[in-house]
Amino acid sequence: MTSAEMKVCSGQLLKIKGLVEPQAKSFSFNIGRSDDEFSLHFNPRFDEHGDTKTIVCNSKVGGAWGEEQRDNAFPFKQGEEVKIFIYYKPDVFEVKVSDDSLVKFPNRCGDQKLAFLGVDGGFRVVSFKVQ
Ligand code: GAL
Repeated sequence: MTSAEMKVCSGQLLKIKGLVEPQAKSFSFNIGRSDDEFSLHFNPRFDEHGDTKTIVCNSKVGGAWGEEQRDNAFPFKQGEEVKIFIYYKPDVFEVKVSDDSLVKFPNRCGDQKLAFLGVDGGFRVVSFKVQ
């Protein structure tokens, strides 16, 4: 896992550019308070945990996963570079991938400041910006 401590507040935009590894089974971005408390777990699955080409989002609070949200849009290809934009709004995370798909996931814990970003699985970060 690659992780970074950061200071990000609602109203900000996270831009992540990276490469989906050719053999990736899935990857995830975890944004939250720490490496075990996530307001947003964004997890595109090519072929993992019984899902194919599905984005699973969830939150993790007090060490326990919440209810999963699945999305039909799947704009990822193994071996391709992508830009992912995460709009952190007070009540929702909006994730846009290379200009098209938009996944919305509610800010369940309501935190307005977050300190942790982790990247897991078959994704190599090329650049990361908060603005
Ligand atoms: C689990 C998986 C975790 C996470 C979680 C999301 O099945 O092991 O990595 O993706 O689902 O609900």
